[in-house]
Amino acid sequence: MESVEENDIVCLDESFFINDNYQLTRFTFGSQVLELYCLQSASTDFDLTGQMVWPGAELLNDYLSKNSDILQGCSVIELGSGVGVTGILCSRFCREVVMTDHNDEVLKILTRNIVLDDSSKNTICSAEKLEWGNSEQLNDILQRHPDGFDLVLGADICFQQANVPLLFRTVKQLLHVGLKKKCRFILAYVSRAKVMDDMVVGEASRHGLRITEVAGTRAEIRNLGGVIYEMTCA
Ligand SMILES: C[S@@+](CC[C@H](N)C(=O)[O-])C[C@H]1O[C@@H](n2cnc3c(N)ncnc32)[C@H](O)[C@@H]1O
Repeated sequence: MESVEENDIVCLDESFFINDNYQLTRFTFGSQVLELYCLQSASTDFDLTGQMVWPGAELLNDYLSKNSDILQGCSVIELGSGVGVTGILCSRFCREVVMTDHNDEVLKILTRNIVLDDSSKNTICSAEKLEWGNSEQLNDILQRHPDGFDLVLGADICFQQANVPLLFRTVKQLLHVGLKKKCRFILAYVSRAKVMDDMVVGEASRHGLRITEVAGTRAEIRNLGGVIYEMTCA
């Protein structure tokens, strides 16, 4: 007997389920004011987390705005950029910022926000598709940036166990290409489960990375514990 699911045809377009009712929203980090489009609350789809700004981005942006010397004149690649709140802040100080994400819907709003923010005309900003662990996509990006980057950034990107090893594989590749520049990975980590806390530290060392907690960055953001880690090739 055929099951109902096997023959079930759903005559609805995928876009029907996507909330793209973005609001122009103002964010202040130190002396930097940013305006960008985002949702005010998360979609029910795990894959669309990037449509809003997460606590990790607030933590990272506060840190970077207070320590903007880290960014001066640098080339940066951001992983899991979402709407681009971190990458766009970086564009105020950096020479070049490549913002990446794997979700096409998120890449649309990211691109829109990059175009909207015209405050950093001298900085080259781009949005690129990059799924963690996808070497083909990473190689495409690295072909255009053969010397790699000075910094790899990530805000609130460790929340799904299966993706963490793939994330670290991509980070390791980026750090190796940028070895001569002493490339580092700065991760704003927000703790939601002990298993993930351990996994992040474990995967970093399994991939041969030295991980250090940046002193003074432990903070509570929206009732969650956050911290900034810095990682380099060991
Ligand atoms: C929780 S959101 C954080 C967004 C932004 N960094 C922030 O803090 O506001 C996680 C982001 O990572 C992206 N992401 C999740 N899994 C990914 C994967 N396997 N490869 C690339 N990007 C991924 C999502 O699309 C989303 O933009």
